[in-house]
Amino acid sequence: MAGVQADLRLATEEVHERLHEAEPFRLIAAGALEMPGYRRLLRSIRSFHASLQPILARHAETAAMGGGVDRLKRIKADLRYIGAEGRRHCSQSFALDQHEVLGCLYVVQGSTLGGRVIYRQLDYLLGGPEGRSFFLGGSDDSLKWQKVRGLLEKQPPERREALRRGAAKTFGFFEQCLASGAPQASA
Ligand code: HEM
Repeated sequence: MAGVQADLRLATEEVHERLHEAEPFRLIAAGALEMPGYRRLLRSIRSFHASLQPILARHAETAAMGGGVDRLKRIKADLRYIGAEGRRHCSQSFALDQHEVLGCLYVVQGSTLGGRVIYRQLDYLLGGPEGRSFFLGGSDDSLKWQKVRGLLEKQPPERREALRRGAAKTFGFFEQCLASGAPQASA
């Protein structure tokens, strides 16, 4: 049987690919997303992490990884820097059961890998690390990712379905948050 991480990667491949094509990321990759669109993107991402953070903090396994607090701090600092502190919330509510939470952590910590790619793509828009520290991530992200992978591989086979559900729900919630910050909304 394939490892748990490989299983989750396969189960979420389609939505991950779809995100690469989502408008703000496609435009960033093309060096074409302007500051108003970037503000909307960061607000959507803040909304996503602000909703997840209390869930991650409530469960022992995910709280031990910091519960997503550092990611939220970085995005708030970036929003301050680019002058986009106004609130925007993803209109959908989000909930997970205790067996699904680790699947959510897989998505949250795994996304730091893509974040580093996006950080470099943003050279055209921002001169220094300010305003994009969220995408740069922390020096401990690689270690955290190793720990998440270790935790995943320790899960018994009967938990796989719940992990897949947690990961799929989290990716789905990210897409909803992106849609709620869609272009017609004000910056
Ligand atoms: C367009 C934006 C994105 C790009 C360019 C991107 C790119 C990447 C890259 C290069 C990796 C590393 C693959 C590897 O080393 O094998 C990765 C992994 C990952 N990304 Fe993304 N990503 C993006 C958006 C996202 C988003 C928005 C999420 C979640 C909300 C996400 C979740 C993940 C996860 C969970 C992994 C780990 C996959 C695994 O190896 O199991 N990504 N991404």
